[in-house]
Amino acid sequence: SKIRRYKWEVKYEYKAQDCFKKLVITINGKTPGPSILAQQGDTVIVELKNGLLTENVAIHWHGIRQIGTPWSDGTEGITQCPITPGDTFMYKFVVDRAGTYLYHAHYGMQREAGLYGSIRVSVPDGVTEPFLYDYDRSIILNDWYHKTPFEQATGLSSIPFQWVGEPQSLLIQGRGRFNCSGLTYPSLEPGVCNATLPECSPYLLIVIPGKTYRLRIASLTSLSALNFEIEGHNMTVVEADGHYVEPFVVKNLNIYSGETYSVLIKADQDPSRNYWAASNVISRKPTTPTGLAILNYYPNHPRKSPPTIPPTGPVWNDSDYRLAQSNATKARQGYVHTPPLTSDRVITLLNTQNNIDGYRRWSVNNVSFTLPHTPYLIALKENITNVFDQTPPPEAYNDMENYDIYKIPVNPNATSSNGLYRLKFNSTVDIVLQNANTMSANNSETHPWHLHGHDFWVLGQGKGKFDPMNDPKEYNLVNPIMKNTVAVHTFGWTALRFIADNPGVWAFHCHIEAHFYMGMGIVLESGVEKIGKLPSSIMGCGKTKEDFRP
Ligand code: C2O
Ligand code: CU
Repeated sequence: SKIRRYKWEVKYEYKAQDCFKKLVITINGKTPGPSILAQQGDTVIVELKNGLLTENVAIHWHGIRQIGTPWSDGTEGITQCPITPGDTFMYKFVVDRAGTYLYHAHYGMQREAGLYGSIRVSVPDGVTEPFLYDYDRSIILNDWYHKTPFEQATGLSSIPFQWVGEPQSLLIQGRGRFNCSGLTYPSLEPGVCNATLPECSPYLLIVIPGKTYRLRIASLTSLSALNFEIEGHNMTVVEADGHYVEPFVVKNLNIYSGETYSVLIKADQDPSRNYWAASNVISRKPTTPTGLAILNYYPNHPRKSPPTIPPTGPVWNDSDYRLAQSNATKARQGYVHTPPLTSDRVITLLNTQNNIDGYRRWSVNNVSFTLPHTPYLIALKENITNVFDQTPPPEAYNDMENYDIYKIPVNPNATSSNGLYRLKFNSTVDIVLQNANTMSANNSETHPWHLHGHDFWVLGQGKGKFDPMNDPKEYNLVNPIMKNTVAVHTFGWTALRFIADNPGVWAFHCHIEAHFYMGMGIVLESGVEKIGKLPSSIMGCGKTKEDFRP
């Protein structure tokens, strides 16, 4: 195995990803940042310089379990102190499993300013993958706002609550197209929006007729659930979150923030033209135009526009369609890791929208999560007491049997906490995520939940209220897919199982940037006593400075 070294500097720069010029966070001048390409077993070292001048930063390696390096998970407030302006921090971890992963900011709402990129881990020498392809491409899908994370966060933490609304555009591999002529801003300066800028020309996916492509499609949207489609080309789903999928063919792929998929496409259509690749908003009433890229059949001119109307995606509110595609995702034969047949503990998390003292929040079991100032990992290892709530959060909503998931919460008031769940090391834990009505009548949102430090088995997903007597009987214990991010569909539930075998402190949260910011998450601890000496570079904030142990 090799050591892969990267030297990165994060900075603010003006860029026009979707033709509209705004402040974005770049890595070495780029967004998406440089791709990390490694082989299973390699050690990745990222020397990260914070060049943001007035803002902290931290980067999370999404899907990398950080076995033996829990301090490199990059979750500010949980596993490390933030990296202050001008400082350099070293992330060092092993990529222990082949697959498609991501990295992104994990400080405040910075991710949506453009600080993200892809990680591609190839199989070890001598190992072959269970499918064939000629070329491999990574494509990150995103949604894009013209308001900065600061403006958005301020709106979210104000009375009255100010919601930023739907994104202005959808990006495919960092490029989108905002219609400048539709601008209604009162004082728009010339040069702010310009449709002829090369940086907002559509992403080109160049294909050679007859060849097969593995597309590693990932979503890092702030908000939107997306549907991705390549006009005229079916996609065969073969990987999800680093695990092989029993292949299934789709015309279009639903993808939620934090998920990665590999699909195979064959360039077997009429080669005399180009085709649209399109992303569309689903699950919320779309107001954002279709995100477009071009599938360019070589040797056609790359700028030759496809002669057709771009795909508009499936009906946005067809939740049965989305649930069916989720349920079709199973572990590939020959690569199945079977889950333990029973679990030691079941935690049920009811997802609701609430108020606390007039502020709008998201909660699980009526508890809205806040981050402590002293990261848990350091507090627990160094015995720094009283820096977070000592009462563990509830195992379930206190009156789940009588909770009506189809109604606006009867008691909309929640409490906040930064307490954590402590899991017995090596125990098997089930988490049942239950979705419900928001604060608006007849409305429920899709929440993609992401677990740090582990993969989980997706045992089941269903419509309506989870039935603890009968639904577990239908769990898939034969070939459930393992993932690190899974959707909880509107008015539905998702049940997952994992083994708490990775010593550390791990976030489990909704991957919608604003939802986590508003409290939709929990933190899990297990086996901290097994962790060796923490690097002093993660310290320096909260109570860790008084107690600093070099
Ligand atoms: Cu990709 Cu905690 O997130
Ligand atoms: Cu959410």
